[in-house]
Amino acid sequence: MERFNLDGEKIKPLTICLIGGGGFIGSHLCEKLLYKTQHTAIIIDVSSTKIKHLLRPYSCWFGRVQFHEINVKRDTLHQHLEPLIAASDLVINLAAIRTPANYNTRPLDTIKSNSVDAIPVVEFCIKYKKRLIHFSSCEVYGKTIGSFLPKDHALQNVSELYLLKEYDSPCIFGSIDKQRWTYACAKQMIERLIYAQSALHSLEFTIVRPFNWIGPRMDFIRGIDGPREAVPRVLACFTGNLLRGKPLKLVDGGQSQRSFCYIKEAIEGVLLIIENPARANGKIFNVGNPENDVTIKQLAELMIEVYADVTKQPASKFTTIDVSSNNFYGPGYDDSDKRIPDITIINRELGWKPAMRLRTILKLCLDHAIDEYKSAIKNECDSLLEFHTGYEYFSGSE
Ligand code: NAD
Ligand code: UGA
Repeated sequence: MERFNLDGEKIKPLTICLIGGGGFIGSHLCEKLLYKTQHTAIIIDVSSTKIKHLLRPYSCWFGRVQFHEINVKRDTLHQHLEPLIAASDLVINLAAIRTPANYNTRPLDTIKSNSVDAIPVVEFCIKYKKRLIHFSSCEVYGKTIGSFLPKDHALQNVSELYLLKEYDSPCIFGSIDKQRWTYACAKQMIERLIYAQSALHSLEFTIVRPFNWIGPRMDFIRGIDGPREAVPRVLACFTGNLLRGKPLKLVDGGQSQRSFCYIKEAIEGVLLIIENPARANGKIFNVGNPENDVTIKQLAELMIEVYADVTKQPASKFTTIDVSSNNFYGPGYDDSDKRIPDITIINRELGWKPAMRLRTILKLCLDHAIDEYKSAIKNECDSLLEFHTGYEYFSGSE
């Protein structure tokens, strides 16, 4: 079926190279491209676990998807990356180390992954005259001025000051010994490089700054489909603890604020960016839902409410516990205090505006997690029970 863009032009099928396309955002974007459009996806990633359903032979989109297991960091002389970019119409770079638990514990890897590894992608886009959509982050805004003002200062309540705007808001990071900011700095450096390259070499580009997109397949549950000792992002941390009936940990009291956006609505925005280059080129877009701004404590309380509702258990069974960031993440952690996106630009250029409220999003996420993980959690509980029963029996007989 023919499809048209916002200017009434017929959309031609594109070959899209998605670097890091096997991750959370990539998997949802590839689903959209394969199920709903005629575009072809060339996916580069170190893992295909989250897109294995898209790679099954004999599916009706099978001729339109390729997976290349490549670690772009180890791709000597870019021998695999370069020809795949050359063979595409559009390049989307999603590859990154992007978990806060890594920023202060693996600062060098974080810096390199988010800046050095992205440089050849930008350069090949210039060399082969390919359009680039680069995934940056809302973390480039860092902290707000409110985090440096006294708590009772009058400016704390001027909400207009805290709405993050692509071209007006300052980017305020913490001090150099707070290695949390390695990610934000590296992301900012690449944004600046893309801008500089475009001014000198007419690179066609769009920069996307996602604000806490959440949904199914985000990260992993510790000890089930990811390492027990690793720390995923907050949705997966809280989900894992709810599934196991453990308290949700509020870092430094859970006072930081985030605006959460449902992944599938965000992907609608990305598709508009892909298919409307005349409106999207040369721009930075915040992509997030300002209506879903909550403190992390409020997020935990809402997740408890929704989970209790879904599993028909009393909410009083689930609790929260305060932990210091030093204990949870180690030294060098710091935090963005507030992150509320101004989405005027993407709304004006592409008509995108998300509508889904946080409670609905959390219900979708938790329903999915229960389906996905219930048997693994049950097995874990059964073996723990066996272990404890055995232990009691053993101690009883001592
Ligand atoms: P993700 O970790 O699920 O996806 C990133 C993918 O990149 C992973 O599959 C990973 O295996 C791959 N990758 C990393 N290094 C690689 C390498 N050297 N070679 C090949 N593949 C590599 O993360 P995500 O949430 O899907 O995020 C995608 C992008 O969007 C990242 O750049 C991230 O910084 C940015 N972002 C995401 C969010 C969000 O809300 N999820 C917010 C802000 C920014
Ligand atoms: C994330 C990551 O930096 C990136 O993946 C991405 O660029 C961006 O934000 C995004 O998703 O938009 P952040 O929002 O700080 O950063 O990541 P989370 O790990 O999801 O943490 C959110 C908040 O929850 C932080 O204040 C953190 O301290 C807190 N938290 C996290 C808890 O209180 N408890 C937990 O168990 C986990």
